[in-house]
Amino acid sequence: MLLSILFFLLFFRPIFIRALTLTVSNNGGNKTSPLAYGIMFEDINNSGDGGIYAELIRNRAFQGSPLYPSNLTGWSPVGDAKISLQNTSVPLSWALPTSVNVAANNGSGDGEIGIVNGGWYGIDVRPQLYTGSFWTLGNYEGVITAMLRSNITSETFASTCIPISSTNRAWTEHAFTLFPSATAPNINNTFVLSWRPQGGSSSLNLNLISLFPPTWNNRPNGLRPDLVQSLKDLNPSYLRFPGGNNLQGLSPPYRWIWNNTLGSLTQRPGRPGTWTYENTDGLGLIEYLLWCQDLGMAPVLAVWSGLYLDGVVISEDEIDICVQDVLNELEFLMGDISTPWGAYRASLGYTQPFNIPIVEVGNEDENKGGLASYESYRFMAFYNAITAKYPDIYVMPSMPSPNITGWYQPGQSAGDYHQYATPSQFVSEFGLWDNLNASNKMLIGEYATRYLNNGTKMPYPFWQGSVAEAVFLLGAERNGGKIIGASYAPLLGNLNNLQWWPDLLSFTADPAETVLSTSYAVVKLFSNNRITETLPVEIGGNGTVGPAYWVAGVGERSGSLVFKAAVYNASESVPFVAGFEGFQQSKQAELTVLTASDVYAMNVLGGPEVVTTNVTRLECGDGGFSFELPDYSVALLRTV
Ligand code: AHR
Repeated sequence: MLLSILFFLLFFRPIFIRALTLTVSNNGGNKTSPLAYGIMFEDINNSGDGGIYAELIRNRAFQGSPLYPSNLTGWSPVGDAKISLQNTSVPLSWALPTSVNVAANNGSGDGEIGIVNGGWYGIDVRPQLYTGSFWTLGNYEGVITAMLRSNITSETFASTCIPISSTNRAWTEHAFTLFPSATAPNINNTFVLSWRPQGGSSSLNLNLISLFPPTWNNRPNGLRPDLVQSLKDLNPSYLRFPGGNNLQGLSPPYRWIWNNTLGSLTQRPGRPGTWTYENTDGLGLIEYLLWCQDLGMAPVLAVWSGLYLDGVVISEDEIDICVQDVLNELEFLMGDISTPWGAYRASLGYTQPFNIPIVEVGNEDENKGGLASYESYRFMAFYNAITAKYPDIYVMPSMPSPNITGWYQPGQSAGDYHQYATPSQFVSEFGLWDNLNASNKMLIGEYATRYLNNGTKMPYPFWQGSVAEAVFLLGAERNGGKIIGASYAPLLGNLNNLQWWPDLLSFTADPAETVLSTSYAVVKLFSNNRITETLPVEIGGNGTVGPAYWVAGVGERSGSLVFKAAVYNASESVPFVAGFEGFQQSKQAELTVLTASDVYAMNVLGGPEVVTTNVTRLECGDGGFSFELPDYSVALLRTV
């Protein structure tokens, strides 16, 4: 008896599952502003220094602050050397006063001395052009040898002799290139500068010791190409920068100061970032804008709103100083070269102004007791001054609020929504935007499933969370006209120094070790198949929204219609019949289905890819395209 029940359940079960019959109308949806997918960046997890900023030398200029004093992290002596930090009476610059002094330990001046740097947790060495430079102070006529070497075997992959004529009166810059003859077997490599002091010569000071591999678009002081390529593959529309909490600063006066991140690297002092380390600010304001240009992204420029992370708030009396600083920043970026700041931009080589469509005032200003001052004077001070001068800029509050209606004009933004939550919370927010006033715009500036439903924090994005994010994103796409865009955060994490996880992409110095997460797979699928105009979907019979969720619309590729769906916690596969009004039988569509073997599956360093992508061709039958989506799956149906 039991056996026959089992047999019956196994083989005849499907006939009881009624297909979800959906009909996509051919008009009547939202024709304006589809949801854009973008990226949010701040220097967290060594995602800037030691990450996408391609500089290979860690602690290249010994930058420090009262919070993180200058130190010799990353550096060791070579041969007979002793190394120490010095603030010489002649500094390299106002911004970089501290250098490393390298002296022969026994004072005899014989033997090789120098310094060695292990890079940002390793150095990727392969046959390609490395471009380097450093500065010296001290009397020395001779050569300094620059090398890329294995830290394990001491094998030298590249070496060059740099003629040096250095004095103790002024700093001298030295440039060099290296071209390794072979690919190193691993990233356990070092960069070495060494020399033989001449008899009687005293020690040498070095500073701003820099080495770059080829960068994206070969930009000097540029970005790591493999990571940029992974971001480009996400087809991002905007870059929100420079934070996040890293914009705000831990305490006075450590906010992100835009004009300290410009020009020659000798003029950038760096600052104590929010995320436990000193920032070099080599990745500065202009570099962010060039990154936008290179990937065709609109800048979403976050400006400091007068709130530090320790809760210190700028008073109403002083807010105009902060507002003026932002007006200066905008003049620097957008101003004609006849303006003082526009002229400064031109002097740095950028005669053409940049375009800034969105300015976000602060970050999460509801936190740290900031809400009252934000509502009463901070936001409006920025809003009024910026819109008076730049009426085309969206001036966006850093968070949504029930009180928000007093702050903006119709058509202006409604805030930046951040959500870090469990999968079930994200699924419950599928309909969050349905009642948002259509004339206002929300940015989902940061989102990520950080926890299992039982509250356990996860090291990497996991499949159940990624499916839940897909449900949340489908809800946002259904309201595309009201939602400016969505960006997962944090974007990047160096696996050797994480302050916040999970991250969309994790990486090490070894490009082969980049981990593209399960959430990356979802964003890539959705972002590369944008909907330009949503279309209403009618549900047949007793069908319900949930455990299957969807959105339909006109696709970006001409003539294509798109249907996106996710199934979350259905306990079994969900059969669909998806019809498009006016669509004839035998028309074809491509169905892409993402699944994973386990709801808790994660893409991890060294592990297998856990997301399976299954692409099939379907023919439109009577009533539409018939297909079945497994539980915990994310799908895209695109007519061809
Ligand atoms: O993404 C990490 C942090 O989360 C951001 O800096 C902050 O905006 C949010 O609280």
